[in-house]
Amino acid sequence: MLRFEVLATEGHARRGTLTLNHGVVQTPIFMPVGTYGTVKGVTPRSLEEMNAQIILGNTFHLWMRPGLDVLKQFGGLHRFEQWNKPILTDSGGFQVWSLGEMRKISEEGVKFASPVNGDKLFLTPETSMQIQTVLNSDIVMQFDECTPYDTKGHVTTEAEARVSMELSRRWAVRCQEEFARLANPNALFGIVQGGMFEHLRQESLEALVEMDFPGYAVGGVSVGEPKEDMLRIMAHTPHRLPANKPRYLMGVGTPEDLVAGVAQGVDMFDCVMPTRNARNGHLFTRFGDLKLRNARHRSDERPLDESCSCYACKGYTRPDGTVSGGFSRAYLHHLERCGEMLAPMLATIHNLHYYLNLMQEVRDALEQQRFAAFAAQFKQDRARGV
Ligand code: GUN
Ligand code: ZN
Repeated sequence: MLRFEVLATEGHARRGTLTLNHGVVQTPIFMPVGTYGTVKGVTPRSLEEMNAQIILGNTFHLWMRPGLDVLKQFGGLHRFEQWNKPILTDSGGFQVWSLGEMRKISEEGVKFASPVNGDKLFLTPETSMQIQTVLNSDIVMQFDECTPYDTKGHVTTEAEARVSMELSRRWAVRCQEEFARLANPNALFGIVQGGMFEHLRQESLEALVEMDFPGYAVGGVSVGEPKEDMLRIMAHTPHRLPANKPRYLMGVGTPEDLVAGVAQGVDMFDCVMPTRNARNGHLFTRFGDLKLRNARHRSDERPLDESCSCYACKGYTRPDGTVSGGFSRAYLHHLERCGEMLAPMLATIHNLHYYLNLMQEVRDALEQQRFAAFAAQFKQDRARGV
């Protein structure tokens, strides 16, 4: 089941609520990525503390390990990973694409060798729906082909993008049929493809809208294309999707991309950037990005972000009301230099908190009809420097 309500709008931007089987999600929302049934480096408790409302999981990875028998035994991904709020699972389409040479795509599906043990595997629209039904994710993504921007330097042509988009469209039909046959009680999203070509995006969108999915994603962006191409597609597609259904921009992006995406009518985002960058010592703050390794932080007593209320920046309040901690840039720099585990842990907490809080600020601004002013201030603050 899925219910979507738009509470307020400003231009193309929307403030909404998305009700799913495991709870309500306030939109616009950022969804932390939990590929293997864990958001890398943070506990589910910590995710709750930073008000994460929905997280991702991955069909492809969870199918490989731990495998469907274990996930079936646990009645799905929620109990297995101890996350009781909504989960969205990607279909495997994007992950199979990342395998590169090791795969063979046909009308039927994708043949490939398991990266784990070399077993011959075959992923189809039907098996993707079957796996996601076992996972019992609240939002199921259609199995698609993520059209590449280029392959070994050859930029995808319009003819190639059309072939790919039409395959994804036929797979959407098979996904919808299998999803219904399985009586899956959750919500299936269609994915718009079409590469960097507006008219192909339009064709893809129209075909999927005709099929009446409960929600829609825009895929095939953030796949190595120049920024201006991503912004062009972002300005074209999202606002043309049905106004009464949630819109999800897959795999995007920087804080600036999120604010720009909201302005174009996007409701949902996911990206590995806050978690992956955290593990590389790259921190996002209100006043720009910060590289923990930089020697300038060596003796800096300030927190990462004065305005941030995360555990890394502000510590936590004990039951008796006293406060423990908040860490200096000097200490985090030291941890990073020593390769200590606490460095990526605290960096992940901070980055995810930053992304989730940014979306909270976006929602507040939309409710008060001051999103345009918020976006201008956001840009100015980010350009100031840490
Ligand atoms: N993640 C990022 N882009 C895509 C896409 O185009 N398709 C799928 N399935 N997942 C994605
Ligand atoms: Zn912080």
